[in-house]
Parts: sequence; C-alpha cells; structure tokens
Amino acid sequence: MALKLPLEELQRVHQMLNTIPFLKSLGQEEIKEMAWALARRYFAKGETIIKQGEPGSLFYLIYKGKVNVYKEKLFGKTHLATLGPGEFFGEMALIDDFPRTATVVGDEPGEMYTLAHDPFQSVLLANPQVKELIMNTAEERKARNKALEA
Ligand code: CMP
Repeated sequence: MALKLPLEELQRVHQMLNTIPFLKSLGQEEIKEMAWALARRYFAKGETIIKQGEPGSLFYLIYKGKVNVYKEKLFGKTHLATLGPGEFFGEMALIDDFPRTATVVGDEPGEMYTLAHDPFQSVLLANPQVKELIMNTAEERKARNKALEA
C-alpha cells in the first residue's frame, strides 16, 4: 500500500527529483508540485511490482535498488532490462491506455516513488520536454522489445 508523503520527506524527494536526468528540464516549482503528488513504496527482492497484461494506473520512479523487466511468453520469459536508481517504468500503460506490456520484479530490496495517472498526465501536459523524453524512452524500449521478438 502506497503512503502519501509526510512533510519531512518532501525535502528528500525534492532533492531526489533534482538528481534525475530526465527531469532536468523541470523548474523548481514544478519539481515541488511533482513531489506533492508522489507516494513512496518499498519493494522486496522477487516481488512482482507490475504484472504483464494487467491494467495499470501508476508510473514508477526508482529511488533505491533495482528491478528486472521480463516479457512473459506462453512458455517461459525473456529478460528485457534491469533498471536502477533514477530510472522509471510503467509509462507505457499510462501513455497508451493499454494493459501492462511486461512484468517488473524486484531484483534487490528497494524504494520507489509512484505517480498516479492524473498527476502523471498533468506533468506531461505542463512539460513538453519531459513528455518528449518519456515518450522517446517508451519508443526505444518498444523497438528493442520488437527486435528481441524477431
Ligand atoms: P508498462 O507497459 O506500463 O508496464 C511494464 C513496463 O516495463 C513498461 O511500461 C515499461 O516501463 C517497462 N519496459 C518494457 N520494456 C522495457 C525495456 N525493454 N526496457 C526497460 N523497461 C521496459
């Protein structure tokens, strides 16, 4: 269960957001606004954070630890990527309004921040550069997945 952030944590989140490369184009006010909309969640090694095929309503930003991304097949699964601090996932279902395209599992215990559908859309709407970066990353990931399938 995700918790809304207590006030004392907002500063830490604020600092964390400032270090994330794809958010570099955000102004301090926008960073502050985004910090308010985030919720913190811990994840365990082996925990399924996102399950392929399920509907999705959250965007995830990794603060600590790593996750593995897998494409599930009829028989077995293919490892697509390992993501770590400062990287994000869960953008595709929110952008395309489509079920989750892959399964995401904790690789080591970690901490992440989640952004719900509406604040995520607001961030994209208000920040074309962030939108472009997230869209480009999603397209690159899709292209890589397609190449793996071929
Ligand atoms: P979504 O489809 O919402 O849920 C699964 C997520 O896995 C997906 O969004 C992406 O964020 C992530 N994902 C899918 N393919 C890759 C990839 N090749 N590299 C990194 N992340 C990926």
